[in-house]
Amino acid sequence: MTKGLLTPQDRDNEFGTTMGEIVSRVLVVYGTKTGSTSGIADQIGTTLTEMRDTATVLSTTDSPDPATYDAVIVGSGVRAGNWHGSVKKWVQANAETLQTVPTAFFTVGLTLQTDPDKTDEVRAYTDTLIMETGVQPMDIGLFKGMNDPKLFSMPERLILKALKAPQGDFREMDVVASWTRSVGPVLGLSK
Ligand SMILES: Cc1cc2nc3c(=O)[nH]c(=O)nc-3n(C[C@H](O)[C@H](O)[C@H](O)COP(=O)(O)O)c2cc1C
Repeated sequence: MTKGLLTPQDRDNEFGTTMGEIVSRVLVVYGTKTGSTSGIADQIGTTLTEMRDTATVLSTTDSPDPATYDAVIVGSGVRAGNWHGSVKKWVQANAETLQTVPTAFFTVGLTLQTDPDKTDEVRAYTDTLIMETGVQPMDIGLFKGMNDPKLFSMPERLILKALKAPQGDFREMDVVASWTRSVGPVLGLSK
């Protein structure tokens, strides 16, 4: 997986594929405030590459164009039950394309660490975005994020303290990899 496309020769050397093998081109787009979601996006890209897809992992700040990809996976960290504004804007701006390209979402937050039973609540963080844009994700991955106080502003730290949010990095890359493997076929990607 690269921050760009591997050449067919690179792929053959690294993964034992055969030149000319048909692979799916997948765009993984993310928005982050403290870096936890970019690490998860990178893991999704790595797993897709192991599955012999060609993954391009980019931030919404790169303004990627989803039109040239076979599938899109887009995700965000959250604040107060909402995806970051930059990611919502990217989905809104590209809604027309995302309505026609197989798309999955993923959400990264701390609620799943503090309240593992609240999966429905965390899944619902993107309900309004889905309703407003008409973009219908084929799946929504829900992942634990991190709370490193050094990376938050003072008001953010106070909010997390008031919420008694635990400190630490709770990201589970094996869970992310496993979700990626399961979502691949749903998105019609290479087996
Ligand atoms: C002010 C504030 C509000 C937050 N609200 C939520 C929330 O509503 N639900 C949740 O699951 N996580 C919440 N979080 C936790 C973040 O989503 C978590 O730290 C995540 O890893 C951030 O990802 P990012 O650094 O990639 O943006 C909140 C964090 C802060 C600082």
